[in-house]
Amino acid sequence: MLNIALFGPPGAGKGTQSKMLVEKYNLAYISTGDILRSEIAEGTELGLQATDIIKRGGLVPDEIIVQIIEERILTNTDVNGFLFDGFPRTIVQAYILEGLLLKMNTKLDCMLSLQVPSDQLRSRLLDRAKKEDREDDTEEVISVRLKEYDTKTAPVANFYKEKEIYHGIEGMGGIDQIFERLTAIVDQTLQKSWINL
Ligand code: AP5
Repeated sequence: MLNIALFGPPGAGKGTQSKMLVEKYNLAYISTGDILRSEIAEGTELGLQATDIIKRGGLVPDEIIVQIIEERILTNTDVNGFLFDGFPRTIVQAYILEGLLLKMNTKLDCMLSLQVPSDQLRSRLLDRAKKEDREDDTEEVISVRLKEYDTKTAPVANFYKEKEIYHGIEGMGGIDQIFERLTAIVDQTLQKSWINL
């Protein structure tokens, strides 16, 4: 199996690049943001609990994230691997992911962290607000999201640096150019770990 986490602040391009990686390597795609938004759209109990938090730009509690992610991982046995987008976002979530993958006799193979300056993040998200309907793409909420990232999510990188699977990737430039940078690291990982997809 090949298991990848795509990491980076709001607007770094995680969703854009994830979809291309999932297609190239034929992975199961798990985006906690997308799952939460569909729980909200369906009006589920979990969605109701997450609505206000997402609207304000905060992080949804780890207990809710475990509930939405556990079954999706453990029941997905017949796949090449997983691409996690926007998860793990806290140290607790990193430990939870480790435990779930261990139950499947596998582990995270690489963490790809997209690096983009904050002025560019803001302008990408404000541009998206003109085209798409994401309630959290307002100036005020973007500031909260970036702060949450700096204080709670950025430290997760150290967890993976210690495991020597962390890769910082320049996230500025054309989408295809960034994709090439990401696939270069994924291909190296496949070779180094003797993974055959
Ligand atoms: P989530 O949906 O994960 O959003 P996010 O992390 O804020 O990231 P975005 O989707 O805004 O950006 P992205 O990095 O995917 O970039 P994208 O490719 O879209 O989370 C939303 C909320 O859910 C969180 O705030 C939290 O409340 C909750 N949540 C989710 N997961 C959680 C978890 N694990 N724990 C707790 N809470 C959780 O690109 C952005 C824009 O830039 C697009 O318009 C795109 O077209 C454009 N773009 C992309 N690449 C480029 C490029 N190279 N050049 C120029 N523009 C580009």
